[in-house]
Amino acid sequence: MPPNQPTAPQPLGTAVAVAENPHYRLLGGEPAIRRLVERFYQLMSERPQARSIRDMHPHDLSQSRERLFLFLSGWLGGPPLYTERFGPPRLRRSHLGFPIDEAARDAWMDCMTQALEEQVTDPALLRQLKESFFKTADFLRNQ
Ligand code: HEM
Repeated sequence: MPPNQPTAPQPLGTAVAVAENPHYRLLGGEPAIRRLVERFYQLMSERPQARSIRDMHPHDLSQSRERLFLFLSGWLGGPPLYTERFGPPRLRRSHLGFPIDEAARDAWMDCMTQALEEQVTDPALLRQLKESFFKTADFLRNQ
C-alpha cells in the first residue's frame, strides 16, 4: 500500500489496533512488564487481604506469571505473544472457574494498583493503566 493511504477501520484486536496502543512502549517494554508482573504476584502472595485470590492460584506461580506477562505484552500494544502461543486469550472463559466477586476484583486491583504506582511515574499513563485494568477486572466478575 502506498504510504499515507488511509486504512480501513480494523476490528479490535487486529495488528493495526494493537500497534496504535502506545502503553507497551511508554511503560518500558518487556523488562518493565516482567517487573510489573513479578511485583504484582509478590504483593498478592504477601497481602492478607489478597489471601482468597492467592489461594485460587497454584502454589508455584511461574506459569501464572509467564501467562500474565505474555497476555499483557499484546494487551498493552506490544508483541501479541499470548495469541501467538495459545490463540485468542478468552479471558472471561478462562476465569469462569474462579469465583470472582467484587471483593476478589478489588483485591486483584489493589495488588495491581500498588505494583503500577511503584513503577509508573507518568501520572497520565498511570491513570489510563489503572482504568484499563479495572475495566478488564470488572469484566471478569462472574458473581
Ligand atoms: C478480577 C480478579 C482476577 C482473579 C481473581 C484472577 C484469577 C486468576 C487465576 C486463579 C488464574 C489461573 C492461574 C493459573 O492457573 O496459573 C488466572 C489466570 C489468568 N489471568 Fe486472571 N484473575 C483476575 C483478573 C485478571 C485480569 C484483570 C487479567 C488481565 C488484565 C487477568 C489475566 C489472566 C491471564 C492472562 C491468565 C492466564 C490464562 C490462561 O491462559 O490460562 N486476570 N487468573
